[in-house]
Amino acid sequence: MVRYVLIWVIGVVVLTGCGSPSADTAVPRMPDGMRESLPDREAGRQLFIVHCAGCHGTFDENRSQASDRFRSAAPDFTEPAYRHAKPGFLFLAIRLGRVGMPAWAPHLNQKETWQLVAYLLSRAE
Ligand code: HEC
Repeated sequence: MVRYVLIWVIGVVVLTGCGSPSADTAVPRMPDGMRESLPDREAGRQLFIVHCAGCHGTFDENRSQASDRFRSAAPDFTEPAYRHAKPGFLFLAIRLGRVGMPAWAPHLNQKETWQLVAYLLSRAE
């Protein structure tokens, strides 16, 4: 009997995968087609104007002068460097926050976050 219990315990440990990265730490993958989708970019633009433009917008988008005092200054995502930004990197930065920027995970769902990523990437094009 003890032997069966032991085999069961070892089986559970092996099957639950010691050492394999958990889903939360993996870099998430952007849903197919979202980056090019005009309706998703537009939804992202509207979220950006409401939540992000005060720090990340251009001056016509009501960027606050205070946002240039951040170290490092909040980017406006029109910088060419963002053309090659990885969608998963932007997604995690938005969800987890940065120095000077709150985490947005409590306020935006995953779809909204990807829509913002699609819009940010389109700003650098
Ligand atoms: C209170 C000001 C503020 C608001 C509001 C804000 N951010 Fe930020 N954000 C910053 C600052 C400052 C940085 C740069 C921090 C750093 O480099 O460590 C930053 C960094 C980022 C980065 C990482 C850029 C990089 O190259 O590492 C992303 C992506 C981002 N913000 C997206 C957003 C989005 C999307 C929103 C709206 C949902 C938003 N932010 C709202 C201040 C803000």
